[in-house]
Parts: sequence; structure tokens; C-alpha cells
Amino acid sequence: MSFLDSLFAKKETSVLGVDIGSSSLKVVQLRKEGGQAVLETYGELALGPYGGGEVGQATNLSPEQITESLKDLLREAKVTATSSGVSIPYARSLLSLVELPYRKDAKEQKTVVELEARKYIPVPMNEVQLDWFIVPKVGPSEQEKEQATVDVLIVAVHNDELALLQSVVTGAGLTASFYEIEIFSTIRAVVDEPVKPVMVLDIGAASTKVYVVEHGVVALSHAISAGSQDITRAIAVSSGVSLSRAEAVKKEEGLGGPEQGDLELVFSRIFSEARRVLMQYETAHNKSISSIVLTGGGGVTKSLGAYAKKTFSIDVRVADPFIKTQAPAFMRPVLEEIGPEFAVAVGLALRKLDEI
Ligand SMILES: Nc1ncnc2c1ncn2[C@@H]1O[C@H](COP(=O)(O)OP(=O)(O)OP(=O)(O)O)[C@@H](O)[C@H]1O
Ligand SMILES: [Mg+2]
Repeated sequence: MSFLDSLFAKKETSVLGVDIGSSSLKVVQLRKEGGQAVLETYGELALGPYGGGEVGQATNLSPEQITESLKDLLREAKVTATSSGVSIPYARSLLSLVELPYRKDAKEQKTVVELEARKYIPVPMNEVQLDWFIVPKVGPSEQEKEQATVDVLIVAVHNDELALLQSVVTGAGLTASFYEIEIFSTIRAVVDEPVKPVMVLDIGAASTKVYVVEHGVVALSHAISAGSQDITRAIAVSSGVSLSRAEAVKKEEGLGGPEQGDLELVFSRIFSEARRVLMQYETAHNKSISSIVLTGGGGVTKSLGAYAKKTFSIDVRVADPFIKTQAPAFMRPVLEEIGPEFAVAVGLALRKLDEI
């Protein structure tokens, strides 16, 4: 590069978070300005129609179809950034929290973890990317004790999944410096509680992911096989309307409308399973979960916050990830409303922004 090139070369300062969900793609573009994350653009695209299905329904598209839809979204949302961070679906990853022997020496600890991790990963180790985190022990009693064991969160993703994501990213003209399991992106975007355990409910199209976050670490994770697409289906059946009509009704009315029964049917199923997870955690760890955060497209449902509060009788918040970004004041009401759907994409973009 000549002196002039480097003088005039435009330094890339905008970054992109790309969330490839089962029912829709989400992107968020941020720029750093004076230490703040500035929202430049965002967008969402339903995948259903690309696979001959309906908006709001989960899909199973080929990498080529996902690439095409991502290109469309980048164009529609007027995305200019090409450096990105990309989500890995929870369903395509493996997370387990295990108790392992403690070693004072970091290198020895690494050996112990990597040796033990094999037992929890059902495929040959050379087929996965392995990562792990030591869960910090807290409380004076814990520190005083001569520590014999350590809690370790083991994370693995299959190489095939990463290759698939890579082909989509490259095909759409982007580069990715990291791939992150969606849970971690969500935590960065919407969980700020540093000490007390918080439960996150990511209500997607076909499934709802439940996780308990403690000290910023995933202490428990679980998938419930019900999501917002089931509401659309319930409305379509009970009212005898098309799926696309039912989808529109669901979004317009939310809870409290004439189709309330159909919504409650699905949410009560999701919440009762989430409650079981919550109680199981509280009993096993002898502590209470302080609050619940609702995310995912299902979290956008009108009046869901109030309904959830009644069901759980603890503090419930609807996620507002865009609060971590700077945007014109007139956009705030819209960003607040759609926020839950973009939690993963915002979390990815925030991490990417930290890299530059
Ligand atoms: N305003 C709204 N009211 C109610 N439901 C909504 C609203 N907006 C989106 N949804 C529903 O949210 C679901 C999509 O959520 P989301 O985008 O989080 O899923 P996804 O990321 O594609 O799925 P997953 O994370 O499970 O792979 C769809 O079923 C959609 O109908
Ligand atoms: Mg999702």
C-alpha cells in the first residue's frame, strides 16, 4: 500500500450482526462513535416464502436458499458493512455444565477439561470445535474451602455446521470473524444483572429456548418444542382462516384480543415447561431466580409481558436490546417494540464492534 492509499483508504468502522433463525433472518449494523454504538440500519426477512412456506413458520432451507435470502435482506436493509459476526443456532450446538477436578495450574486444568470433555461429546473430537469456560465460584465459604472441583461449561459445535454458515456468509459477500452460539449473543444484548440468576425465554417460531444466566454464564439451558408458529396454526384451525391471515391476526391482536384462547393455549404450555425448569434450578441450587427476560419474535406479542408476570409472579421484562445503541429519538418506540426479535443480532454486532 502506498502512502496515498493508506491516507485515503476508508477505514471500515461499521459492523454487522447476522442472526440466521429458523423462520427469519435478522441483521443489525452498528458503528462506533465516541465510544458509543450507533445504530446505522437493521432489517428482518421471513424465510418461509423462500421454501414455499408461510411468513412466521420455521423452515429447513438449503445453504444456497439461505444465501439468496441473506443477499436480498442486505439489499433491502441497505447494509453497507461487510465485517460480521454470525449466530450459531442453539439446536446445532452442545452445551453442558459439568463438575470437574480442580487444578491450580492453568495448563493442567486445560488438560483435565479437554480430556473430560470427550465424555460429554457424542461425536469424534476432530469433528467439532470445542470451547469451555470456568464458572466463577462465589461466596466466602466457597473461597475459604480448599477447592476440589470446578464447574466448567463445555461448548461444542460441529464442523459441518460451521462450514455451512461459512458458505452462506461468503456467498452473500460478507466476512465473519466469529461464529457465536445465539445464547451468548442474547446475554450480551439483554442481561445486565451481574449477580442474581436470571431466566431468559427466547420464543422463536418452532421452539422456545430457556436458559438461566448466573454471573453472565449459562448455568442451564433447555429447548421447549413449542413456539410462536404454533399460535398461528391454532388461530388458523380454530377460525378456519389461512396461515397468512392467522399470522397477521396474531401480530395485530396479541393477547387480549378475540383469539386470546389460541394464544393462551400455546403460551401456557411454554410457560408451564419454563416454570418446571425454573423450579428445578431453584431447588438444585437453593437460590431464587430474580427475573425473567422475554426475547425472540414471540416476545414481541402484544401484552405478553403482563401475562407472563401474572403466570410467574416474579419480575418480567420484555427485552430491549436497542437500548444499548444510539438512535434518533423518533425511532425509539419502534425499536422498543421490535427489540426482542433482534436481541441475537444486536449482541453479535456489539461483540464485533468491540473488535475494532
Ligand atoms: N409482533 C408479533 N407478535 C407475535 N408474534 C410475532 C410478532 N413478530 C414476530 N412474531 C413471531 O415470532 C416468530 C419468529 O421469532 P424469531 O424471529 O425469534 O424466530 P427465529 O429466530 O427464526 O426462530 P429460532 O430462533 O427458533 O430459530 C414467528 O413465528 C413470528 O410469527
Ligand atoms: Mg432466533
